[in-house]
Amino acid sequence: MPSTVIRGGTVVTHDLTYRADIRIENGRIAEIGPDLKGEETLDATGCYVMPGGIDPHTHLEMPFMGTYSSDDFESGTRAALAGGTTMVVDFVLPGQEQGLLDAMKVWHNKSGRAHCDYSYHMAVTWWGERVWDEMPLVIGEGITTFKHFMAYKGALMVNDDEMFASFTRLGELGATALVHAENGDVVAELQRKLLAEGNTGPEAHAYSRPPQVEGEATNRAIMIADMAGVPLYVVHVSCEEAHEAIRRARAQGKRVWGEPLIQHLILDESEYRHPDWDHAARRVMSPPFRDKRHQDSLWAGLQSGSLSVVATDHCAFTTEQKRFGRGDFTKIPNGTGGLEDRMPLLWTHGVNTGRLTPNEFVAVTSANVAKILGCYPRKGAIAVGADADLVVWDPERRKTISAATQQSAIDYNVFEGQEVTGLPRFVLTRGRLAVREGEMRPQEGWGEFVRREARGPVSRALTRWKDLTAPRPVERSGIPASGV
Ligand code: URP
Ligand code: ZN
Ligand code: ZN
Ligand code: ZN
Repeated sequence: MPSTVIRGGTVVTHDLTYRADIRIENGRIAEIGPDLKGEETLDATGCYVMPGGIDPHTHLEMPFMGTYSSDDFESGTRAALAGGTTMVVDFVLPGQEQGLLDAMKVWHNKSGRAHCDYSYHMAVTWWGERVWDEMPLVIGEGITTFKHFMAYKGALMVNDDEMFASFTRLGELGATALVHAENGDVVAELQRKLLAEGNTGPEAHAYSRPPQVEGEATNRAIMIADMAGVPLYVVHVSCEEAHEAIRRARAQGKRVWGEPLIQHLILDESEYRHPDWDHAARRVMSPPFRDKRHQDSLWAGLQSGSLSVVATDHCAFTTEQKRFGRGDFTKIPNGTGGLEDRMPLLWTHGVNTGRLTPNEFVAVTSANVAKILGCYPRKGAIAVGADADLVVWDPERRKTISAATQQSAIDYNVFEGQEVTGLPRFVLTRGRLAVREGEMRPQEGWGEFVRREARGPVSRALTRWKDLTAPRPVERSGIPASGV
């Protein structure tokens, strides 16, 4: 690859803002400084040069609710790049009794077409000796984060005893536990009751998953993680009740992170009351969209640092797939898209409104993700030696979001018609120019698997603290410790 210089921009990282050029050699950042020369030049005048976005939560070509999510690693990572995201972290989903390593191989077979780098979380969808045995092997493969579904009863859900066993094992191995926090037992009962009462439409999806079920499960997961001594990452935090639990745990010194989604920050529950069934069903995801009170809470969490990252949970289903649930909302495949729109929407509603600084934008879309997941500063940083996953961000560039022009394979966009100001001028993936002023320059298979490290600083600190404060027998003189 010829050397490339990004010239004339303002570098923005999670902690610094400064004028500098960046020279890229062989996919990495080789030099940062004034007046650099290279064989190719990209003009960044008037732009911010930021670490490419990392989406910590996607489901590409995922088998779910009797179908497969429609964006695969080809269209999904193409959509990611179009919006300035240069790495995605997808979920490996083992079937019941399937080994973790076997499931990982299935994901490696799918991801070969990726246009940008990617990593995986491993889902713990059942519990047994084989899972326990394979956990260190999975970590050895560079997958250090393990997701537990507290909902989807009868399918993916795990119970408290299984979660405690899994969390304990992960704590010992220096890994991180993830949870989808909703009380699956209560959701299942509410679904049954609603259907019996004739509540069959997509609005009943929201009725069946109120904020209380998310708040309860978040508190429970935090307690179990604390008892097990493992750092906890709560995915798709959608409401004040869950955020409050995370905020309180963090104030108590617990190692807990929360991940709101761009959808929950922008869209609200009124979508489910839309007279068009398709409109409402396309927006069915778990947890559902909430009212404004919850949106304000999520934004405040990003501002104050009690919530750490913004993801998409990109899990796209076509209108045809959504129609599996006509007459029974519990059969509507759960999931929405957002990969292409996360960065421009967060910039528009976050930075342009003054809720977030550009540095905070980089933190929640990239740097924090890389730190929490264990791939910083290779990803999420602008530093000599780091991967040249970069976005040259034009704060004046505008567009109206529309399914007609999107990269995603589905036939609609839940953000249809929204105006965004702030879009990529250039996107580079390991030094390769993938987007130039809105024009896609895709290269299937360019993306590589990113191995991540367990036993990061937070995990080591937590282990030390838990060892120091572990229960110990009281030494007593004069009385025999045991026996006669
Ligand atoms: O509705 C959602 N979120 N679908 C994707 C699977 C999950 O729960 O993350
Ligand atoms: Zn989930
Ligand atoms: Zn709307
Ligand atoms: Zn998800």
